[in-house]
Amino acid sequence: MQAELEMVKALLGGDRRVVVLTGAGVSAESGVPTFRGRDGLWKHHRAEDLARPDAFAAHPELVWEFYNWRRRLVGNCYPNAAHLALAAMERQMPNFLLITQNVDGLHARAGSRKVLEMHGSLWQLCCTVCSHAREDFSELPDLPDCPVCGHLLRPGVVWFGEPLVPGVLKLAIEAVAKADVFLSVGTSNLVQPAASFYQLAKDHGAVTVEVNMEPTPNTGFMDFALHGPAGDILPELAGGLAG
Ligand code: NAD
Ligand code: APR
Repeated sequence: MQAELEMVKALLGGDRRVVVLTGAGVSAESGVPTFRGRDGLWKHHRAEDLARPDAFAAHPELVWEFYNWRRRLVGNCYPNAAHLALAAMERQMPNFLLITQNVDGLHARAGSRKVLEMHGSLWQLCCTVCSHAREDFSELPDLPDCPVCGHLLRPGVVWFGEPLVPGVLKLAIEAVAKADVFLSVGTSNLVQPAASFYQLAKDHGAVTVEVNMEPTPNTGFMDFALHGPAGDILPELAGGLAG
């Protein structure tokens, strides 16, 4: 793998347009559970009970219990070497964009500034009735209510069956289509549309790279597949990049 790693590293130099897509795997080494792996979140919690708008309408207290648990868990985790390497890449590369499916906010805590959070954020709250929305890192009551209109707040995440925020998706697609290098890191590539970004990048001539502990349905279509922990591989890729 060392030779492949050096080849990928060489591709990241200069002013190439580099787009990185991350998934839950990038936060695994921080202690944040992934969704589908061993001990994945959905093994312990039925997603359809928790990550759906109709579930929230029927059992808001159960859904909020799940999200408050995740907020506490992530609040006690710290960015790992992979997050830090991506933040370093952003500082070193003039044309770098990070797109994440993660809602944990760890990329920002690692110092990344240009991050598109495709699935929203655990730290964002939105009113279910009025337009109130805010970032909030505090311990929340069991059923938080809107300070403006008094109705129920919801987590600012995208649930199954909901559309992505159109502006965010548009920016992501534009960047992927213009990328010279597209890196997919720590995602199972099972959730659309992120799982198809590699195809869009490839169609527009990008070199595609996957970093994952194990193969995914996309592995065979990538130009490079680097298998191993993101916390080992990304620092190697970020180290001593040519300007
Ligand atoms: P979809 O899974 O393609 O999701 C629609 C949109 O919502 C996509 O843009 C996706 O990126 C986003 N999204 C989906 N789930 C999300 C989540 N938990 N957090 C953030 N963003 C999310 O389409 P769909 O119709 O919602 O679901 C497709 C199938 O997946 C359905 O048959 C459903 O029963 C099944 N499903 C799977 C799981 C799972 O974890 N494997 C959970 C719930 C539903
Ligand atoms: N380094 C690299 N990859 C890793 C590591 C690691 N240390 N640990 C786990 N992985 C890989 C796993 O092999 C797996 O392919 O990370 C991937 C995690 O996949 P999922 O748990 O399915 O997470 P993700 O792809 O982000 O899920 C997409 O689904 O439920 C929704 O909204 C949720 O955003 C999430 C979306």
